[in-house]
Amino acid sequence: MSDNSKGVVPSSGESEDHVYDAGAGLVLSDKIADPGIEPHRVRMTDKSVKHEKAAERQVAALFLISIVGSIFAIFAYFFWPIEDNIAAVRTNTMFLGLGITLGLFGIGFGAVHWAKTLMPDAEVAEDRHQTRGTDATRARAVEIIKLADSESGFSRRKLIRRTMYGALALFPLPAIVFFKDMTTEANPVDKLRHTMWAAGVRLVRDPDGTPIKASEVTVGSAFHVIPEGLNESEHMLEEKSKAAVLMVRLNPDQIHSQKEKDNGYDGIVAYSKICTHVGCPVALYEQDTHHLLCPCHQSTFDITNDCAVVFGPASRPLPQLSIEVDAQGYLVAKGDFAEPVGPSFWERKAN
Ligand code: FES
Repeated sequence: MSDNSKGVVPSSGESEDHVYDAGAGLVLSDKIADPGIEPHRVRMTDKSVKHEKAAERQVAALFLISIVGSIFAIFAYFFWPIEDNIAAVRTNTMFLGLGITLGLFGIGFGAVHWAKTLMPDAEVAEDRHQTRGTDATRARAVEIIKLADSESGFSRRKLIRRTMYGALALFPLPAIVFFKDMTTEANPVDKLRHTMWAAGVRLVRDPDGTPIKASEVTVGSAFHVIPEGLNESEHMLEEKSKAAVLMVRLNPDQIHSQKEKDNGYDGIVAYSKICTHVGCPVALYEQDTHHLLCPCHQSTFDITNDCAVVFGPASRPLPQLSIEVDAQGYLVAKGDFAEPVGPSFWERKAN
């Protein structure tokens, strides 16, 4: 090294203006020698036209398997429809999965088999160079692409090319067909708008289903509530995921909203437990602050003020369930929620 304080002496031909800092380069000794590239092994398909043709047919057969698999997946979707029993769901899933697996398997193995048996398999290594090549390099790249095309036979081997196009074109079709499930076959919008709550339906404890008298709800207590009859419902889980409610008794003076007071009963207020962000259960009640917390992404709702969002990603308050008491003093709903519960969906009208 020279006495130059900047570090390295420029090599011959470089001007004194281009003196580079030596920095703190670390030279590691590589104890494992680079094994280099394995010598090329001639394959049967390189020296025998018969084997080459056979490999070509095998590749085409694999792409045909993919085509059959994709068509089968569409067929299976309609032939073994999803019905209201678990056996039908399993059958549908199994045959759909089989079709999609074949669709993917055929494309994957076909491409690998093509590359391994028919495309040139000589390994090459290329030193790094700047990202944009020179014009000569780019022209050479075009030449190489043309060469690869002629050697792989992409343009020449029409059978492989066409079956591959067919396989690739058909493979996404099952996914398109499955969009059918997003349509209104059983009017899912209606299902999203309505819950089991109706006028006169008692509020019962979750999970044991015992009805709750207003006199049993002390100030500061919180109840996890479901509609009476939910445990006996054929679609219990589906209904519960919409109808679950958290009920709290507040001191009526603590409630800031007149609407909330009117929809409650003597300080007892009931709100949907389904978070308006993405639908987790809002199951935590903070007694000191009167906040309801969603544990998923920390949305926080103020239960003294129409359950307005005070923190977090939820964009709407939790819907309130209007309640009153029946002749025996049990808490009952005045009707269904006035707006859809849970996260937003396209057809949901803003209230
Ligand atoms: S689901 Fe409640 S905050 Fe995200």
